[in-house]
Amino acid sequence: MDVKMKGITALHTLLQFLLFSAIFPLSFSAQPRNAKKLSSDNHHRLSSSAVFKVQGNVYPLGHYTVSLNIGYPPKLYDLDIDSGSDLTWVQCDAPCKGCTKPRDQLYKPNHNLVQCVDQLCSEVQLSMEYTCASPDDQCDYEVEYADHGSSLGVLVRDYIPFQFTNGSVVRPRVAFGCGYDQKYSGSNSPPATSGVLGLGNGRASILSQLHSLGLIHNVVGHCLSARGGGFLFFGDDFIPSSGIVWTSMLPSSSEKHYSSGPAELVFNGKATVVKGLELIFDSGSSYTYFNSQAYQAVVDLVTQDLKGKQLKRATDDPSLPICWKGAKSFKSLSDVKKYFKPLALSFTKTKILQMHLPPEAYLIITKHGNVCLGILDGTEVGLENLNIIGDISLQDKMVIYDNEKQQIGWVSSNCDRLPNVDRDLEGDFPHPYATNLGIFGDRCPASYEETD
Ligand SMILES: *[C@@H]1O[C@H](CO)[C@@H](O)[C@H](O)[C@H]1NC(C)=O
Repeated sequence: MDVKMKGITALHTLLQFLLFSAIFPLSFSAQPRNAKKLSSDNHHRLSSSAVFKVQGNVYPLGHYTVSLNIGYPPKLYDLDIDSGSDLTWVQCDAPCKGCTKPRDQLYKPNHNLVQCVDQLCSEVQLSMEYTCASPDDQCDYEVEYADHGSSLGVLVRDYIPFQFTNGSVVRPRVAFGCGYDQKYSGSNSPPATSGVLGLGNGRASILSQLHSLGLIHNVVGHCLSARGGGFLFFGDDFIPSSGIVWTSMLPSSSEKHYSSGPAELVFNGKATVVKGLELIFDSGSSYTYFNSQAYQAVVDLVTQDLKGKQLKRATDDPSLPICWKGAKSFKSLSDVKKYFKPLALSFTKTKILQMHLPPEAYLIITKHGNVCLGILDGTEVGLENLNIIGDISLQDKMVIYDNEKQQIGWVSSNCDRLPNVDRDLEGDFPHPYATNLGIFGDRCPASYEETD
């Protein structure tokens, strides 16, 4: 099974970190080059955004990524976008386990380790017992994902250039992880990506850091195309003025991921027994996961509905747990749409709020020409009672995580086109997204604005 789940993290401290101190001795102690925090007055003045082109797909790749420039001179890193976790990390050029990239694509710390007294360091620890014995010690982190993959490393701080919609390129110094020990969960082959871009709302996320530097409103969103690709944005410039369905974030949700609910499952316009679902919106998960009970109900509803139709179970397709084959092999979802009914999630607090899940939002066509159910049993893979809306169900929607107003929104969108930002562009800047899209590569525009 090509199932990947980045989101929903747990962090803990490990004594093995001592190992890293041996590898990166004192020479890597951070130098206190503080990114100066702007006064909170700036938050009102600013409303600029940055947009990034997204690559990837649900199947066969199982992930969506952005290319992020990091460092000075900058190098490009392909990072898995993950609204289910906080910490951004890249594979580290250090004696490294589970680093899959060639050496020249690894991140090399350069006297820029974050010290353990740094406020952000406590944010990447799970254990309350974390102690910073000596202030200029390095800041170790470990992040563990729902699919039991993990990354262990050290926090660094470096320049990440952002081109904003107003035309300015700003390169704040941002803290992120340099991961030197990665584990990938059993069934997954090591990913093609260089790391993870955590979009959660914890203080350590890039989103929160850009926000506290006064550069953007605390809003992030993505639009993942069913044809592959799409875009990601920080800030609120791209939020359409109408048509969005907003639902409030659950206060109970940890700050590290975004959840909403309770919701009920609607099958072909009719209420079902599936009610009271709390749902985590997780771009780091390829598929959607329901707890066993809800999952079984979905399987029963779909199977029941397929009775008498020309689909047979395809037990020989290893792609996903439940697949069907037709008389002829299927080429695209349009070949099977007629066999499947639309689902919807109805957010019951405010009756009319629904997230529509047409067949495209819960089915894939495999390379074997079968159609498979992209809603999986979360309990079976260790998620217990959690329910996760993954990429498959987020496709062709603009999804917005608005931490300012504590709400999550979505609207059907064409994610193949970058949104029009003309209204905010200044002068004759030719390539508004040039930096973010990696077009500058190693070259840096002379007009970088320093934030510190
Ligand atoms: C453009 O927006 C960025 C980020 O909010 C800000 O730092 C910069 O000063 C703005 N540039 C101009 C010319 O307003």
